[in-house]
Amino acid sequence: MKENRDYFPVNPTGGKLTGIRGEVVTFIADPFLVNSESCYRHIEDALIVIQDGIILEVEDYKSIISEYPALDESNIDVYKDSVILPGFIDCHVHYVQSPMIGSFGDTLLQWLNEYTFPTESKYKDKAFADEVAKVFFRQLLRQGTTTANVFSTTFATSVDAFFEESERYNTRMITGKVFQDRNLPDSLKDESAEESAELSESLLNKWHNKGRQIYAVIPRFAPTSTELQLKLAGEIYQRHIDEGVVMHTHLNESIGEKAWVNELYPQFDSYTDVYKNFGLIDKRSVLAHSCLMEESEWQTLHMAQCGCAHCPSSNLFLGDGEFSVWEAKDAQRPVRVGIGTDVGGGTNFSIPRQLNEAYKVSMLKRKNISAIHSFYLATYGGAEALHLEKTIGSLKAGYEADIAVLNLKPSEFVEWRMQFTDSIFDKLFVLQTLALDNMNRATYVAGKKVYDQSREQEFMYVSELNK
Ligand code: GUN
Ligand code: ZN
Repeated sequence: MKENRDYFPVNPTGGKLTGIRGEVVTFIADPFLVNSESCYRHIEDALIVIQDGIILEVEDYKSIISEYPALDESNIDVYKDSVILPGFIDCHVHYVQSPMIGSFGDTLLQWLNEYTFPTESKYKDKAFADEVAKVFFRQLLRQGTTTANVFSTTFATSVDAFFEESERYNTRMITGKVFQDRNLPDSLKDESAEESAELSESLLNKWHNKGRQIYAVIPRFAPTSTELQLKLAGEIYQRHIDEGVVMHTHLNESIGEKAWVNELYPQFDSYTDVYKNFGLIDKRSVLAHSCLMEESEWQTLHMAQCGCAHCPSSNLFLGDGEFSVWEAKDAQRPVRVGIGTDVGGGTNFSIPRQLNEAYKVSMLKRKNISAIHSFYLATYGGAEALHLEKTIGSLKAGYEADIAVLNLKPSEFVEWRMQFTDSIFDKLFVLQTLALDNMNRATYVAGKKVYDQSREQEFMYVSELNK
């Protein structure tokens, strides 16, 4: 039996020190709930000291450099015209849909049948799964995303390929086998509820807490599981929740989906109630979308401390429902919220670009989201939604050193536009609104620079970096 962890303890073992110097922004609390000025740290010229993949200290460079005689220009990476943030957290994404992102659209249920299910049927082929996993990780790391809560698909091969690639970068990633035993093509369907539960638990035993990997119990959504399968999935989740196993599914994404759930499960009061009845609503449950919510459902998610993944580009692309972040954050019963790209429903892999869409979705509901709020959602908020906020999502002593370095001059026009900004959050808002896929300069995973936009070999596995 693995140890019972509420978070992942860190014990630097006295390895070599390294440093990162530059302008830092990081979050320590939820600006939707408390005064937003008290929720972040901004240090104009900071030094982040790292040892064995863990942050030892983040402070003003000049005030601490003398305490670290082992640090000098040979082992401090210096960034100018940049802002250093915690690595982004993608709370909901389907790596297996990378080959079909940008498929000409329809509403959710038609889109699933036409594009998604045929694509996902290909992952019994391990070589195909390996290729897609490799491409997917490069997309995430290029964008500065260091943790993602990911859908694989039915087959063990899709889970193995994903975690194997994650191990090569030493990323903290979450996935698991998807449960789906009805209402989809035979090529993708589980053979039986019992067989799917056995397979999921054996993958859990193989991967959970292996290095930085975290296993998730993943029923696709209520319409593609029999009641028996939801029950068995709930039992596995409950058996392993205290070891840090996650439950991940879709909830209330679209009008057609919600109506279908009502038809299939008439005995329950709400969509959330279906999951709750089968033991799937608990503190490590992550509900993607949560657009068309009833008040009682928010109450349930609040009481259980679940996380919601706000996936704005996907919601706009499929055009079937929108998340209301201010409703989710109602001070009477706030819910944990992070951001998801939901590729392939989402139209890019970038979390800052999701913030651009989240802003517009919120404006349609006549309420803005400041850059303080949105970059919180992209980092610490995501960690809270995944119950990993003591481990990742902030640049702070004891946290894992997963870091993104955004370029404040990613293009000629953005560079020019920046001269008309005042604060660091003005600059971040301009970046999220105007910058494209090239805004991230470098990505550090557990202290190692696995992506560097300016290096000849942009992506490097940890084994190559250790040579
Ligand atoms: N609901 C059930 N499956 C899916 C999926 O693959 N993508 C999205 N966006 N919603 C879903
Ligand atoms: Zn999804």
